[in-house]
Formats: sequence, structure tokens, C-alpha cells
Amino acid sequence: MINPDTTYHVMGLTRYVDDRDFPARGLHCVLFFSPVARGEVRGLDACAARKVPGVAFILTAEDIPGENQIGGIIEDEVLLAGDEVAFAGMPVAAVYAWTEAAAREAAGLIKIDIAEDTPVLDPREAWNRNELIAPARTFTLGDADAAIAAAAYVAEGRAESGAQEHFYLEGQACVATPSEEGNIHLSSATQAPASVQRAVATVCGLPMNRIEVDVRRLGGAFGGKEAQANAWACFAALGAQKSGVPCRMVLRRSDDMLATGKRHPYASDFTLALDGDGKFLAFKVMYYQNAGAAADLSTSVLERTLFHATASYYVPAVHATAASCRTNITPNTAFRGFGAPQAMFVFEAAIREASRVSGISAETLQRKNLLKTGDTFVYGMAAENDRAQRCWDKAYTCYDLTKRMRAIDEVRKREKDTGKASRYGRGYALMPVCFGISFSTIFLNQARAHIHVYTDGSVGVSTGAVEMGQGVNHKIREIVAESLGIAPGQVKLESTNTTRVSNTSPTAASSATDLNGAAALMACEMIKARLFKFMAGEYQCASRDFYLEKGGLYRKGSACGVSWAELVGQAYLSRVQLSAEAHYSTPDLHFDTSVGKGRPFAYHTCGTAYFEAEVDRLLGTYRIEKAYVVHDLGRSINPLIDLGQVEGGMVQGIGWMTMEEMRYTDTGKPLTATGGTYKMPDIFSAPLEMQVKFLADDYNHKAVKGSKAVGEPPLMYGIGAFFAIKMAAGCENAVYCAPMTPERLMGQLRDGD
Ligand code: MTE
Ligand code: HPA
Ligand code: MOS
Repeated sequence: MINPDTTYHVMGLTRYVDDRDFPARGLHCVLFFSPVARGEVRGLDACAARKVPGVAFILTAEDIPGENQIGGIIEDEVLLAGDEVAFAGMPVAAVYAWTEAAAREAAGLIKIDIAEDTPVLDPREAWNRNELIAPARTFTLGDADAAIAAAAYVAEGRAESGAQEHFYLEGQACVATPSEEGNIHLSSATQAPASVQRAVATVCGLPMNRIEVDVRRLGGAFGGKEAQANAWACFAALGAQKSGVPCRMVLRRSDDMLATGKRHPYASDFTLALDGDGKFLAFKVMYYQNAGAAADLSTSVLERTLFHATASYYVPAVHATAASCRTNITPNTAFRGFGAPQAMFVFEAAIREASRVSGISAETLQRKNLLKTGDTFVYGMAAENDRAQRCWDKAYTCYDLTKRMRAIDEVRKREKDTGKASRYGRGYALMPVCFGISFSTIFLNQARAHIHVYTDGSVGVSTGAVEMGQGVNHKIREIVAESLGIAPGQVKLESTNTTRVSNTSPTAASSATDLNGAAALMACEMIKARLFKFMAGEYQCASRDFYLEKGGLYRKGSACGVSWAELVGQAYLSRVQLSAEAHYSTPDLHFDTSVGKGRPFAYHTCGTAYFEAEVDRLLGTYRIEKAYVVHDLGRSINPLIDLGQVEGGMVQGIGWMTMEEMRYTDTGKPLTATGGTYKMPDIFSAPLEMQVKFLADDYNHKAVKGSKAVGEPPLMYGIGAFFAIKMAAGCENAVYCAPMTPERLMGQLRDGD
């Protein structure tokens, strides 16, 4: 079943927030951002700005009618800076004008006097100064120190991974429209409509029922609009509230890149201990998370890092500590994988270091320690199946991996023996992924769906899920269509709207279909039960004898001669309720944060990727030649959508590991906050050959219709690209510093560091 959205995207007909007509009598908001990373504000001069023709008004912190506070988990983030600025790009004043050009001109005329302070940019330095967002957290399993003391091999080292810009094609955007009685309607590009509703209510000083947030779709989000759509919606709402006319807040790309948070960079120290056969005995790790200037979702991201400390492997003794370190860069935020990629990178680095120390190949170490049924994770949950191993083994057989790797090994050995290295080197790496599915914050694992069946048989579905390109709308459409036995074309997915479906969790944690799809299915079942009960009365038989298929009613294997539309029409005339609202909450989840143990995930999504890379050792450039994947999807609701998620996620992960780099000056000013200076992966940097196979079988009893969440796990395959490049370059050193940009690789090839 083709996703109908695709056609509109390709034809350029899909409309995003800023594609709708905006009235001439409407205000445009442009922000004035702090030019420095840290300091005390001595004065702000907006006189010249106010005189620009077309400027309506300029708001600063003291003009906010409600609270100047947008922190979600921790209330430590102001919407507009007051006496202090904490990062370059922090909003200081909001200019509202009748054209965007006038607003921008005025913003450019604002002058600020700041007593500049030396910023903290490095998370280790923040740690040393005790600049923490929250107290550090530790997860433990067994006695790591004792196991390390008794080990045959001990690998120690450091690993560092960098930031990642979300680079959603649609930037941050919101249009606010005031209505009678001071209510505000917001058309927002957010993954979290309820969170926008709450933030706007707080800032505008209104109760939540006066704020309606509507989301048709997003042009990509990747976590960047989970918490960070709130601020821009607040600016739009403030403008609408004050003026009584619609207000548009759309960040241009460079403002978006300047002012929004990224994936958290991490610095880490690790120790991995093994026995003589290469079995892992213990893992000790300290993660320094670069949280930026405010909490945002950092503590939650940090928790997922701890959950995934040992990646896809069983380690009997673990001591993992993590700290969200406060620095003077933009508050960092959710990004596909939510802290797990950072953890997995550290563990894979530790494996390469263990391989160097022990002489046992990385693949041998990986396979020997891969999770099997019953193995305990550091958080106390046990692996419930052996799919991690099955994906790995299937990758070996269906892609003939042993032969491929030996061919590369032979060339490398020959080069070593003869001392003659060729300009082009080849390398490989395997990358298993095992990702816990559910929000790590337990209460978020809930969703609602509201379904209307109209009297002609057409169906409207509202849920809390936000469509952002990942295909959740189409998956839910297919779930509903199948349940009601009708064509997907008869099912319309409505916008996500806080007035129709309230208190929604963000569309995140890869769980939108699991949660909202399950709720939609429950709502269908409720409507069906009523219809069948009604028909049971008409036919004088049992409700359970009926089912819906091929657009009509069936009874015990034969068609009743009543079409879906007729059934619905008759039921309506008999006053049967044709709408339903259902609530789903994932069963059996619990987690005790005081001891770090419980069952935080409904299940895990696993898979293995194999990479081959070729490096030009003269130039430091490289190509990812092959990416072969075996991925466990349970029973896919839509294999084409899922394939797109696996390929897209993997390429995004490769970008993070190999080329995307955020750089700052020593004074904390971003150097790469534009499309021209930030290197994004494109079709030319995608692997030359990509193959994705799904693990055959298996009904997943923990999610809707036997499916598995797919959104985030594939991103972590990209970590394999880093290690394939490292091998191909012949850099057999202890430097585990991502991204492996050509520049950095060239440095290592030349100087060995
Ligand atoms: N795919 C597209 N095309 N665009 C996106 O923004 N976001 C990813 C993933 N895949 C994203 C995407 C992230 S971070 C998550 S958490 C999931 O989709 C969210 O959607 P889901 O729960 O429906 O998988
Ligand atoms: N993933 C994404 N967003 C979240 C999570 C998570 O696990 N927990 C809270 N917000
Ligand atoms: Mo995804 S990082 O959970 O939005």
C-alpha cells in the first residue's frame, strides 16, 4: 500500500506551517539573539529598532505577561534573557513588525551592552567546576572493580562524540491566531502539541484550555521539535495575544541553527575487562554529557545513555556514571536515539581497544558477548529473546561476510608484511544494535485515539501522533482500514490537535505507532462491538459471529450482503454511537530510579549492520562502499516505510559519525551554524551499496499487530562506518574521536594523532 503523502511530497504540493497564506494584517516576529556566549547584560538599546517603519512593538523579558519560563523537566530555562546571557544565540528581544523584512531590519539595529565572561564549552571542564544540571547518576550491576582486578585483559581509554544538527527540511515554525475571549489557536511545527500548549499557557498566563495547538505534519523533526518547538510557539503566541492579530514566527535556517539545540556531544572514560577467551567481565564508564546552558531534555537523554551503556552485549559487572554538564552553548536536546548512540559509540570504541590489547579480533569479541535470552541488562531487565544473535548470524550467511572480511584481511597482511601500503586502504566493521522501546519516562507511555465513522462509511481518525515523514499516519490508516475491513482510501488521518486529543505524549521514542496505533485499534474494536451487537439483534445471532472484510459484513465465513456503508447507515438510524475514544498505556512497565532497576522497556529492537569503507590515505577522504543490514522488525505494518526508516536512519548515523561537525570559537561563537559551513550527508555520501534484509518471522506480542518500532534504532548502525574507516586508514591507535572527518583523518594519517 503506497503512502499517499509520498505523491504530494514529490509533486511539491504538501503544505507546511509557512506554506499557508498569511494575512497582510498579521505580525512577523524576528528575534534578537545574544552575540556572546556568557555575560552580564548591562543594557539594551532598541530605540533605533523601534523607529523602523512597520515595527509594531518589541518585547523583552519584563513584558512577558505570564512566567518567563519554558523549562520542561527542570524549570531552568527563560524564554527571553534577563540580566544574564548563557549562550550565543540566546533570545534577548522579540521584534514584531508588519513585514518580516522590517522585523529583521529592526532586530539588526538593536544594541546590547554585555560584560563578557569566559564561557565553559567543554563538559569535562564543567564537571571539574561542578557545573551540573542535576546530580550525577550511577547504574551498577555486580562488582566491576573486583572483576577488573581479576581480568586477563583490561582496555582503558577515552571516547568522544560530537554534536549533530537536526537539519529538518522545514525549520522551526509557528503561526498563532487569536480568537474571541482571548483564546489562541496555534499551527505549530512540533512533535509535542501538548508540550507547546503547556508552555504557551505558562508564558501567556492563560489556562491550557484557551490554547489550541494543531499540527498537520512536519517536514522532519528527528527529536529537534520534541522540546524545542515550544519557544517559537511562545513568541508567536505572545505577538498574537498582545496585538489581537495573527502572528508568524518562522526561523530562517541560520537563526534556527544558531539558536536551537543539537545532539549532545559526549566525552567519556571507559574500562573494559575481559577474560583470556575474550568474554567480557566488567565495564566501567564515566560519561560527561555536554548539556548546554539549560536542562531541556538532557537528564532524560542521560538516563537512556545509562540504559544502553553496554550496547548489544552482555557484561556481568557494570559501573556506569553519567553527568549532565552545564556549558555555554545552546541547550542540547533529543536527537534520534536519545543518548543511546553516544553510549553505543563508547562501548564499540572499548571493544576496538580491547581488540588491540588482547589481539582478539573485534568481530570475535562482539559475537562472543552478544546478548542472548536471559542475559541481564544493567537496569535489571533480561533479554527476552536471541534475536540480536540471529540478526548477526543471518548477516554472516546472507552477505557472505567471512569471505569478504578475509579478502580485506589478506590485503592488509600483505601490506604489513611487505611494508608497502597502497594509497587506497580498505576496512570493515560490524555494528550490532539493540535498542529499548518505550519512553524511558514511564508516564509518557500512553496515547489516545478518537475515531468518527460518518454516515457514508468514511472514517476520520485523530490521535496524538504527529506525522513527520516517518509514515505514522499511513501506518495508523492501514491499522484502521484493516480493522474495519475497508480500503485505506476511506480513512482520513486528521491533524493532531490538542482540542480533539488531549494530553498527548510527544511523538518520540520511536513509539508513535506502538502507542497511538494501539489506541486507534482499540477505538475500532469499540465501534465494531457496537455494530456487531446491533446486527446480532437484527439477525438473532451472537455478536462474535460477525466480522468485517472487503468492505462488508461477514458472518461465519459468508457475506451478509450488507456493505460497510449500509451497515453504518442502518446503525446510525438505530441510534448506535459511531464514534469512539480509546486510551492505551503500555502494560507492565516500571522503573525504580532510586536503584536504577526495573522494566523500562516493552521490548528491544535489534539488528546488525556490516560496513566496508575505502580510504584515500593521501587525502584523508573516504567512501562507504557497502552497508549490509539484517534488521528485526517483527511483522511490519508497512515494509516500504520501514525500509525507508532503516536506510534513512543509517545514513543519518553515518553523517553524525563521519562528517557533521559543530565548531565554536574559543569564546563560544558557533562557526558552523549555516547550511554552507555545516557538512550534511547527501546522496553522494550515502553508502554506494545498501542492502537491508528483515529477520523473517516473527510476531512481536508487545506491539500493535505484531510490529516493532523502527524510527530510531537504525541510526546507530552508522557507528560502524566510523570503525570501518578507521580500519581502512590503518590508524590502529587509541584515538576514538568522532566525527571522523577527512580533516581529522588526514591529521591522524600524518601525525598519528
Ligand atoms: N523519519 C523522518 N522521515 N523524519 C523524522 O523527523 N524522526 C525520527 C524517526 N524517523 C523522523 C523519522 C525520530 S527521532 C523518532 S523518535 C521517530 O521517527 C518518531 O516517530 P515514530 O514514533 O512514529 O517512529
Ligand atoms: N525518547 C524520546 N523522548 C523521551 C524519552 C525517550 O526515551 N523519554 C522522555 N522523552
Ligand atoms: Mo525521537 S529523538 O525520540 O524524537
